[in-house]
Amino acid sequence: MANNEEVFKKIISHAKEYGFIFPSSEIYDGLAAVYDYGQLGVELKNNIKQYWWKSMVQYHENIVGIDSAIFMHPKIWKASGHVDAFNDPLIDNKDSKKRYRADVLIEDHIAKTEDKIRKEVEKAAKRFENFDEAMFRSTNARVLENQAKIDDITKRYSEAMNANDLEAVRQLILDLGIVCPISGTRNWTEVRQFNLMFATQMGSVAEGSDTIYLRPETAQGIFVNFLNVQKSGRMKIPFGIAQIGKAFRNEIVARQFIFRMREFEQMEMQFFVRPGEELKWFEYWKDTRRKWHLSLGIPEKKYRFHDHEKLAHYANAATDIEFEFPFGFKELEGIHSRTNFDLSRHSEFSGKKLQYFDPELNESYTPYVIETSIGLDRTFLAIFSYAYHEETLEDGSSRVVMKIPAILAPYKAAVLPLVKKDGLPEKAQEIVDMLKFDYMVQYDEKDAIGRRYRRQDAIGTPFCITVDNQTLADGTVTVRERDTMQQERILADNLNAYLHGKIQPLKVE
Ligand code: GAP
Repeated sequence: MANNEEVFKKIISHAKEYGFIFPSSEIYDGLAAVYDYGQLGVELKNNIKQYWWKSMVQYHENIVGIDSAIFMHPKIWKASGHVDAFNDPLIDNKDSKKRYRADVLIEDHIAKTEDKIRKEVEKAAKRFENFDEAMFRSTNARVLENQAKIDDITKRYSEAMNANDLEAVRQLILDLGIVCPISGTRNWTEVRQFNLMFATQMGSVAEGSDTIYLRPETAQGIFVNFLNVQKSGRMKIPFGIAQIGKAFRNEIVARQFIFRMREFEQMEMQFFVRPGEELKWFEYWKDTRRKWHLSLGIPEKKYRFHDHEKLAHYANAATDIEFEFPFGFKELEGIHSRTNFDLSRHSEFSGKKLQYFDPELNESYTPYVIETSIGLDRTFLAIFSYAYHEETLEDGSSRVVMKIPAILAPYKAAVLPLVKKDGLPEKAQEIVDMLKFDYMVQYDEKDAIGRRYRRQDAIGTPFCITVDNQTLADGTVTVRERDTMQQERILADNLNAYLHGKIQPLKVE
């Protein structure tokens, strides 16, 4: 059985081989942590966007969307806190000259120790079949000892981070004996704060240029348009504004493929509510977002909530939805109760009153905000890595099948004439023409039918429609379902309704 790291490598190479994701600027040896989506990748990505947009904007009468510019007034990032505090602590190894995030070095160390405990417990559980009290006691002692170590490290770590005490963070790295994976040494520099925003100049040098930033999140474009949308759309609280768009972060440690990129996309929604009602809405959005994920048919055990114990100064509740990627459970989406921090700060910095007059209460107030923020690329990776399956079939042959939820699959169907003669290609083309206004369909006549099925399995096409001589006689085709490989015969005229019935999200209670 291949380990997770090997599987992850296979997933990355599959993404490239079949035109889902390419490294950016590859012919120039690539650009670190930047990726391009290929012909199939863009379809999957667009489908994810549409699925999210529909669930947010179309299905909620009190949520509207916007598309704000990437460049924004530089004061916005001062008001939001990004200029002063959007930092990662970095540390260099003097021997390898490699740069790391100090917090990630410590978190990885904690994760490894936790993993050690988990393995120890699993081993012990297996041995319980031949129960041995001495072994149980020694295992138990080791587990308790390691757990105490973790608790101690976690306490020191959060105290150091909370106090922004970079020397204490460095000392912890030294005390834990963390070595550079490249040089193997503990020859570390000081820890420094590094701002993650990309800066550029606007205006020509002669006229005097201003430093502006590539937005590190789409949320601020929503906050600064709060009044525009509320007034022009006559929106009544509670209401939401949604946006999908690019964000940019100069990540120090960009790794794990499209999990942590320097240019990525977010799907964010800010929901404006009455002060005092925010925690009720926080629970509502936690539940609504959980159902959205589960409606894709990915099992619930692949997700978990991670409530934040340490809250950002502006938040009064926050949770992450984590997904089990091939490299473990990691953040996929954040749900935050951001109080009235952002609107108040923009009021203060812009001098414009960003308030809402509530006709029911007959008073004005600065609304509180619940944010749902999910990375589009991370959602892609979650779905893509979950979908990847290697299967051995009954006849001993094998296939790679991408079990992408049908509603998100790049192509919904492939139309395949059994042979390249007897009028079958023409009939197949007719079917393509009939379906292509509603669905992305692909025509393929090259190679034996079995090989064509394999190609469609590998790109996640949920249905293969085969046209044979019987089609010409009675107008029926065979439809092969990707995951079960079962086939049924239906009337070609019913294909549209058939696909419509099959390509639906799961209903989740
Ligand atoms: N407005 C809130 C916000 O931006 P965040 O937790 O920093 O919160 C939200 O980001 C989501 O954006 C994350 O849960 C993740 O899915 C995605 N994301 C953040 N940084 C990313 C990166 N460097 N590459 C890919 N996705 C990223």
